[in-house]
Amino acid sequence: MLCLGIESSCDDTCLALLENGKLIGEIRNSQAKLHSLFGGVVPELASREHSRAIGCLYDALAQKYSFEAKDLDLIAVARGPGLLGSLLVGVSFAKALAMGAGVKIIGVDHLQAHLLVADMEDKIEFPALGLLVSGGHTHLYRIEGPDSFTVLGKTLDDAAGEAFDKAGKMLGLPYPAGRHMDELSQDGIVDRGLFPRPYLDNKNFDFSFSGLKTSMQSYLRENPVEPVVFDPMTAKLKMGGKEESICDLCASYTSAIVETLAIKTERAIDKEKVFKSLVMAGGVAANSALRKTMENLAKEKDLNFIVPEVSLCADNAVMIAYAGFILRQKGYSHDLSFEAIPRGRTIPKDMFV
Ligand code: KG4
Ligand code: ZN
Repeated sequence: MLCLGIESSCDDTCLALLENGKLIGEIRNSQAKLHSLFGGVVPELASREHSRAIGCLYDALAQKYSFEAKDLDLIAVARGPGLLGSLLVGVSFAKALAMGAGVKIIGVDHLQAHLLVADMEDKIEFPALGLLVSGGHTHLYRIEGPDSFTVLGKTLDDAAGEAFDKAGKMLGLPYPAGRHMDELSQDGIVDRGLFPRPYLDNKNFDFSFSGLKTSMQSYLRENPVEPVVFDPMTAKLKMGGKEESICDLCASYTSAIVETLAIKTERAIDKEKVFKSLVMAGGVAANSALRKTMENLAKEKDLNFIVPEVSLCADNAVMIAYAGFILRQKGYSHDLSFEAIPRGRTIPKDMFV
């Protein structure tokens, strides 16, 4: 089965080609540089960039791997959640391509695709506990199969990635700051008393990370540090003040996020008692401390731990194509009436069998 995946839910336009679930090739236009000028994603600029890039990316991919639209068996596209204007570019392009060439189409849940792509790494045994940690979402799912996800808990305010990005901004790190905080943490010493492990005094599986950035703000007010300077020419960070103090801050802040995620994940494992695997995905799943902690937790609980390789943790089209491929194998597809769903609205179960 030749499957084209299209991802345009946020600030990267990505296309990928898979044959029977194996990657043939992918192409991407990253908008990171554009949005870093504004310290975050500007939705209207994002959709304009998607619209400018998507046709050229498709042509380049088709030329490189010598295929035409009529050769495809499936077009899978991210239908949400995400920025509506951005999603509409990918969904409209996918629908036009599918209609023109008479190819089956499927609109994929971007969050579920993040987790399902872990199956390319190692087969997911169900039921699985899925921890999705990205810039916009922090969800714990009970996953019974590729078409059966139940939300056990989610963030009530900021996502884990936002907590990294906002604190990183206070330290002078460029957007998105998660990767830089991870890098700086490698040379830091954790002080567990510096930041709280938030929203643990309850029995649910929800998260709340917005207070953490306030803790960083208060800490910096009382203990000012020279902000880090990012040189865009060399893509290197230059420490303004004492290198150790910034690295220690990053390591301590990271440990607060990692421990909080691990504690709620452990509680979900213990309460549900049915899981065979622990799957972690999303941009924050690239974090080295989080990967180590979750791997240890899974070992302790005798679960198979599966996390996509780092390049497949951030937004990509391989995950959209792969999720589409496994759903199509179960017989699912959409007609051309399915909608793009913005963040905050529930994605309807409207696939046909
Ligand atoms: O999944 P993703 O690429 O986009 C969304 O759908 O949000 O996740 C992006 C998020 C950003 O907040 C970024 O700072 C964070 O993932 N991130 C990291 C790391 N790499 C990316 N956070 C912590 N450690 C990392 N190594
Ligand atoms: Zn994502």
